[in-house]
Amino acid sequence: MSTTFTLDTATSRAHPVPEPVRRLTVPAIQQRKGGAPIVMLTAYTARMAQLLDPHCDVLLVGDSLGQVIYGLDTTVRVTLDMMCAHGAAVVRGSYRSVVVVDMPFGSYEEGPEAAFRSAARVLRETGCAAVKLEGGAAMAETIAFLSQRGIPVMGHVGLTPQAVNALGGYGARGKSDAEYAKILSDAKAVADAGAFALVVEGVVEPLAREITAAVACPTIGIGASPACDGQVLVVDDMLGMFERVPRFVKRFDDLAARIDAAAATYAAAVRDRSFPTDAQLYGTKR
Ligand code: KIV
Repeated sequence: MSTTFTLDTATSRAHPVPEPVRRLTVPAIQQRKGGAPIVMLTAYTARMAQLLDPHCDVLLVGDSLGQVIYGLDTTVRVTLDMMCAHGAAVVRGSYRSVVVVDMPFGSYEEGPEAAFRSAARVLRETGCAAVKLEGGAAMAETIAFLSQRGIPVMGHVGLTPQAVNALGGYGARGKSDAEYAKILSDAKAVADAGAFALVVEGVVEPLAREITAAVACPTIGIGASPACDGQVLVVDDMLGMFERVPRFVKRFDDLAARIDAAAATYAAAVRDRSFPTDAQLYGTKR
């Protein structure tokens, strides 16, 4: 496949491709429990969605975009406006994957009705199929409320980055017996409330394994366990866009180095006037 694409809006949900490609559905993901591993990556832009879509089952418009796209220090400052704008772009750029959009901090914790209003806005403005929200037993009522009213919810337990101020950092969770037991019961509460899938982030491996065996919905691990029903990474981490490589990340490329080299080559070509050449100019034949 060529690596040069034009931005073809025909490949969106709103404008089906001439040869229809069926978008995966939430129930199809739900049915993958114990089956073929679910492939999930984050995506924040239409162009990246186009590139990832053929390879993924789920594209997550994660609130990690706060750090990755906007250079914020935490996800706490991400807004519903940001999530809606990027969610809509990812839906436009994809046609096969289920698109899930993160509910940002402050948009759902207050209670089920407030969460419903925020989630309904996300679905309406983006065209995504589901939302994700962080938290355990405390979110069970909200997850049930949304799920029973037509809004599929992906849960997220373990290391929950929106709670960084309460947790005191991003260290792996579940190391003490008490924390292990709490995260396990949180996972069960979220699954029992009706979450169609569950992200398990940054926990000791045996805990992720036990959660996966204990809950009826598929688990999607990040810094968790190969036993999870699927895996997710932040796409920029996976592509090698950042110098810092947390333990749970595997870099599948070194894109930062390749961008650096391309920019250096471009800069040198501008400075020595070897770019542009006739091939890039208009009207040179006159
Ligand atoms: O915001 C995000 O990207 C996430 C994933 C890391 C699971 O929540």
